[in-house]
Amino acid sequence: MDNENHFDVVVIGGGPMGLSTAYHLSKRKAKTLVLEQFTFINQLGSSAGISRQFRIPYPDEYMVKLVKQSIPYWDELQSLTPVPLMDKVGTLWFGDPDVHSTEGNIRQAELALQAQDVAYSKVSAAELESKYQFKDLPSTYTGLFQAQGASIDLKATQQTLYNWNRKSSFVTMKEEAPVTKIEYRQQQFEITTPVGQFTARKLVLVPGPYADAVFKLLNFQVAATYWNMASAFYKKTDPRIQYPTWFVFQNPVGNNGNQFYGFPEVSWNYPGYIRVASDFVISPLNSPEQRTLIPNPEELGYTAAWVKHHMRGLDPVPHYTSTCLVALSKIANKELIVDFAPAHVPGHKDIVIYATGWAGKFVPLLGKILADLSLDGHTPYDISHFATGIKYFTQLK
Ligand code: BEZ
Repeated sequence: MDNENHFDVVVIGGGPMGLSTAYHLSKRKAKTLVLEQFTFINQLGSSAGISRQFRIPYPDEYMVKLVKQSIPYWDELQSLTPVPLMDKVGTLWFGDPDVHSTEGNIRQAELALQAQDVAYSKVSAAELESKYQFKDLPSTYTGLFQAQGASIDLKATQQTLYNWNRKSSFVTMKEEAPVTKIEYRQQQFEITTPVGQFTARKLVLVPGPYADAVFKLLNFQVAATYWNMASAFYKKTDPRIQYPTWFVFQNPVGNNGNQFYGFPEVSWNYPGYIRVASDFVISPLNSPEQRTLIPNPEELGYTAAWVKHHMRGLDPVPHYTSTCLVALSKIANKELIVDFAPAHVPGHKDIVIYATGWAGKFVPLLGKILADLSLDGHTPYDISHFATGIKYFTQLK
């Protein structure tokens, strides 16, 4: 095999995490290949829908700390482009303070913010309606507002990373390049794709929801469930209306998970409309193959009803609907997995993995962490909560 097809690191998966990993590897002068099975900046994975929430509130202090640690990396990325990567409108977490949902609990989040010295303000039930434009909420609801929250333009984020990688003499990017075989021989990986065969000393696996299609080539799989999440835009009827990014905590009612989240109006994504989505699925999937690009009408219906009953200044008819596919750990709620491949895989110490969970807000930092792990075998960031692959990965043969 000629030398031009040999790399220090091959990154499998060209979504935001793969592009960010390549960016950080290129800064370390590692010769890097990114393989994307579809096309770059597509709408088929977990980053579909373009906008994502940047929020510091989390019920766990280690997550709050990690979001704080991501901020300098967002600033660094922002310095590479004149396009704003975030609209800093703040984050409003509100709802029933007794609810312990899949996303956490408002009181616990307050404690975690306090422990990490993050400024926030408490929001009363009255203020949720007078200041933040919601309506007809139960009088027991409370909230917290954290001013550094933002809506992330994930498409511009990916474009910035992509543009850097294209210009970098250290990075090669190939699309329509699904990996069909991985073999480990003489301390290097041989990677087969329809666009060529490549060798590498190290692998970084960031295939998003398509994780098992790659992991099975190395004889393991991850215990995951798949959410094909529905989202829609709602037309503003009052041009003055604006919302922060927000999340409402409520107990489920029947098959309605009853948790919703939303965004401000942003210039990059259907201006004149506001995105609101449900943070639940009625039927989780067992594999990405079961996914369709059609949003579940019931989930859209519950969201539209919530918009109608509780949001001011919006026409409650869903437009520009979309789906986003995410793999979530079956074992630990929505935890991220950042780890090396399991020990039975030949060359496992040279295979770094990020799998499961929502990590849009961590894109610039996780790329750095994955690059550190790949080149150094360790990272200064605390990933002890995520380095749990041993529990979540199972051997196939
Ligand atoms: C998040 O920030 O991780 C998130 C926000 C809304 C829905 C799901 C996840």
